[in-house]
Amino acid sequence: MPVIAGESAAPFVPADRSLPVLREAVQQCRGCELYLTATQAVFGEVESGNTEEPGQISIMMIGEQPGDSEDKAGRPFVGPAGKLLDQALVEAGIDRAKVYVTNTVKHFKWEPRGKIRLHKKPGAKEIRACRPWLEAELEAVQPRLIVCLGATAAQGLLGANFKVTQSHGEVQRSLMLPPIIATLHPSAILRALTEEDRESQMAMFIEDLKGAAKFVTA
Ligand code: URA
Repeated sequence: MPVIAGESAAPFVPADRSLPVLREAVQQCRGCELYLTATQAVFGEVESGNTEEPGQISIMMIGEQPGDSEDKAGRPFVGPAGKLLDQALVEAGIDRAKVYVTNTVKHFKWEPRGKIRLHKKPGAKEIRACRPWLEAELEAVQPRLIVCLGATAAQGLLGANFKVTQSHGEVQRSLMLPPIIATLHPSAILRALTEEDRESQMAMFIEDLKGAAKFVTA
């Protein structure tokens, strides 16, 4: 009998933890219901030109979930939040081609608002269901540092009580995981209500990313 939608991605994650195999397999994932309304799963990647060999990538950046642009393109952080991330990485002196970028949840969760597909925050159930993909990526990439972009990624790895506003930029240690630095989500900066807030949040974001760069080059 075909599996419709389960409670975990685990049955869909192959034993072979190489990125090309995982990237192909994720398209068959029915570990939660999000596959029903998303265009496709969006797996993590480094920009082309990098070998994606374990040990070659020092930073793994984890966002929340693909947005509208990412869902259509099939690639993470290619929309407005991705453009802002690119700008911040340049200012922090980090080469995006050496960063593995992925998301906590691999399918776009949205609700219709007229003709628009409005981003909907993934719930605990979807985050839990999708975790085996993130674990497989961590195993394949073996980053020296994880950078969590925003609360969904940070709380997913560091616990529900973790506060990005209080502890951003600090190196966190968690059992069985590489060191973690949490920082703002670029979409939060895009949503800032005033130009002043936007500038101060961007400065904080760049500062945290510089800390991440320093950590991996130390
Ligand atoms: N926001 C995310 O968290 N991830 C993306 O890939 C795009 C926007």
